[in-house]
Amino acid sequence: MEGDGKSDTLIESLPKAELHVHLEGTLEPESMLAFAERNRISIPYDDVDDIRRAYEFEDLSSFLDVYYAGMSVLATEQDFYDLTWSYLTRAAMENIVHVEPFFDPQAHLSRGVPFGVVLAGILLALEDAEADFGITYRLIMCFLRDQPADEALHVLETARLYGHRISGVGLDSAEAGFPPGPFASVFAQAASLGLHRVAHAGEEGPASYITDALDLLGAERIDHGVRCLEDPVLVDRLVREQVPLTVCPLSNVKLRVFDSLAEHPLRRMLEAGLLVTVNSDDPAYFGGYLCENYRAMHASGGLTREDVITLAKNSFRASFLPDEEKLAHIQHVEEVAAAQR
Ligand code: ADE
Ligand code: ZN
Repeated sequence: MEGDGKSDTLIESLPKAELHVHLEGTLEPESMLAFAERNRISIPYDDVDDIRRAYEFEDLSSFLDVYYAGMSVLATEQDFYDLTWSYLTRAAMENIVHVEPFFDPQAHLSRGVPFGVVLAGILLALEDAEADFGITYRLIMCFLRDQPADEALHVLETARLYGHRISGVGLDSAEAGFPPGPFASVFAQAASLGLHRVAHAGEEGPASYITDALDLLGAERIDHGVRCLEDPVLVDRLVREQVPLTVCPLSNVKLRVFDSLAEHPLRRMLEAGLLVTVNSDDPAYFGGYLCENYRAMHASGGLTREDVITLAKNSFRASFLPDEEKLAHIQHVEEVAAAQR
């Protein structure tokens, strides 16, 4: 199936939420060069083409090497503001009306960038985008699962000093060989502070990491989760409990979780009754923002127009918005969709 103008219009015009985007993964090559220059930080690239040539990945860990190296140019509150603001202006153009973005504090603390600097820049941009574009937000702080759980606990304690500006905690970075279990007590502490809990699981790691994330971390939402399909008992549970899975098609192909979009199981997951959403993950590195993920899946035959509408509604159902706001957004999706039937 080819992409068509009518469906592209539908994809763009539907109100949508984005629930799985790493702000550091929205760092475009042009900004990487500009931040490197203004902060006098040297990077191993001469120009944009040079940077883009490095974006061929074997797997998650080969991507993470480039991702952590790329973010080394982020040093000041202004950098974090500009990074977040660029993503949000783009989100506004794509009719994204609610975002629940991630950031990785440890990846900045380890370079000597204080937590408060990172958080202040990100929050100011989120507040400005809410005022200017009406985009609402819940900010999620991720712990790096390939670093000690004690370090995560320390980050959580630091975050507490900043009150209620952070809505939830997540778990990301290299997955295979790094099960959720060691983070159980950090997540329990986060829960006791009233924070939401999400976790990357079943991207490269086995289906059992999804079960562990639910049972040991109390995860309310699973990021990726595509490998649940290897365990039918788990799929039944995810369907029964309607646990949201934030799926990222372009990311999965770039990181070779699946060979092509045509082989991506998104449609099968929807048909199985799973509460899946579409997201961009690290759009600057994976070749497309949210609408491009929808468009590419539709063009490859992996989504019908009705699926697109369902996914837009799911993005609100799976969010941390209060029920009445979810319902208002879902109703708006239905109105926009009805006008294009
Ligand atoms: N950090 C940024 N992108 C990630 C991904 N796709 N998986 C795990 N950690 C990440
Ligand atoms: Zn991710």
